[in-house]
Amino acid sequence: MLADDCHDCHVLVIGSGGAGIRAAIEASKYGDTILVSKTLTGKGGCTTMAEGGYNAVLRADDACSLHAEDTLSGGAYLNDPALVEVLVREAPERVADLMEWGAVFDLTDEDEIAQRPFGGQRFPRTCYAGDRTGHEIIMTLVEHLRSTDVEVLTEVAVIDLLRSDGVVTGAAGLDRRGELVTIRADSTILATGGGTRIYDISTNSASGTGDGFACAYRAGAELIDMEMVQFHPTGAVYPHDARGRLVTEAVRGEGGVLLNFPGERFMSRYDPERMELSTRDVVARAIATEVLEGRGTIHGGVYLDVTHLAPGEVEARLPIMLEQFLHFGVDIREEPMEVAPTAHHMMGGLRITPSCQTTLPGLFACGEVAGGVHGANRLGGNALADTQVFGKRAGEGAGKAKRSSAGVDDRQIDALHARLDAFPEGTADPAQLRRRLRRAMWTGAGIFRTAEDLTGALAEIREISAQHPRAAYQSNLIECCTLENMCLTASLVVRAALMRRESRGAHVRQDVETTWAPGASPYGHTYLSLEREGVETGGAGE
Ligand code: FUM
Repeated sequence: MLADDCHDCHVLVIGSGGAGIRAAIEASKYGDTILVSKTLTGKGGCTTMAEGGYNAVLRADDACSLHAEDTLSGGAYLNDPALVEVLVREAPERVADLMEWGAVFDLTDEDEIAQRPFGGQRFPRTCYAGDRTGHEIIMTLVEHLRSTDVEVLTEVAVIDLLRSDGVVTGAAGLDRRGELVTIRADSTILATGGGTRIYDISTNSASGTGDGFACAYRAGAELIDMEMVQFHPTGAVYPHDARGRLVTEAVRGEGGVLLNFPGERFMSRYDPERMELSTRDVVARAIATEVLEGRGTIHGGVYLDVTHLAPGEVEARLPIMLEQFLHFGVDIREEPMEVAPTAHHMMGGLRITPSCQTTLPGLFACGEVAGGVHGANRLGGNALADTQVFGKRAGEGAGKAKRSSAGVDDRQIDALHARLDAFPEGTADPAQLRRRLRRAMWTGAGIFRTAEDLTGALAEIREISAQHPRAAYQSNLIECCTLENMCLTASLVVRAALMRRESRGAHVRQDVETTWAPGASPYGHTYLSLEREGVETGGAGE
């Protein structure tokens, strides 16, 4: 049986966040390019929600070698050094592209791009547009995309990659009515972002459900370091429906201080040198510890205070934070915010080369769905740079790849139809299963982990996966496929977390003693694919 709606192109880009749009812009120089997105273009990914900034070496007293060292040490030396080298070298060029295309960054009095300090960096190298940097970048990219001949398919959720003889030949998706769409392509780029919506509390938009990880795994790609989930230290804690919403690191970059309920500036006990501008893994653990040990606020957070700054400074540098908290009934010029950690970013993902080639022929990956760039903990500001640097590289790599005569394998389409046809007969409410999954991840695979908790989470994920979600209407098929993707992504995170028997970066195993410094760890990447899974040994400590 064929799909209802069939397309053909040279390069297919899946995802319309910063990495996907940048990839499509580049790929379109080489041939017909289709950009497919489950949301409206640029509205769904995390780029638009990234507030604080974009790291790039722009000053004579900074250096790419320093940016690389900060990134590696922040990442607990699990990063792929070749990817880090590319990131730091090309980040300045890609910010120049954005400015050429009309992005307006804040400037100094000398009309140079202003840069603010961010955590774990020895130089203030984070370029910004107030506290809406990602929004400025995505609007610029969407505008520039319109000047290309990229064909855009919006509100099509990709549910699987197409394969023919081991080569990826495009993707199949569902449009918003639940009709099957296929796109055959010579090369396919996954730019689907992360998946921290598998957690109860997350900064991600609703679209961050890990579809890319799940589709790639099912297709046979290898993923690395899936246990490395970043909990951003500062998410909103109330009102309830705003829980987890990002409170940008720029607040601390601009001088905000963290206080526990008794009023102590507690970071002096966790990182006396860098204080609030320590790396995110350290700050998130510090806040979680304060709360767990009974020194948190009544809402289960700590205070983040900028009342010592001049009100005009807050208004100029943090306008979105000011507005957001005014909506919550808090004037941050006069009273502190309340914050607590929130699931924010996945450092693991598809194993890629510096040209963004994955382990599957025909498949490229860039942005958050790719692993290796950020190691065990990402520096704030490196994600936006990552989207632009590796987005361009993926577009170029896929664009230059050979044309292919491989078509769509009808047997795979038949199998997809059979999978979809089962959902109307399902018995379980997908929304309820989703809630169960998110709670299981939050309690079993959060900031602090033990084998017992992880094993419990895995059992719960398996039980949820064994249920049969019901699609009441054809348009609910997407919800059922998304739930399957969330369950698979969650199981990858937990399986990898069980394999890594050490504490490193964002991954803390309370049940094992880690006697080595991160740079001397005997472990390398954890890896998972249909064919093999394990953890590399022979790292620096061996
Ligand atoms: O805190 C923030 O503004 C987030 C930035 C990032 O994750 O890079």
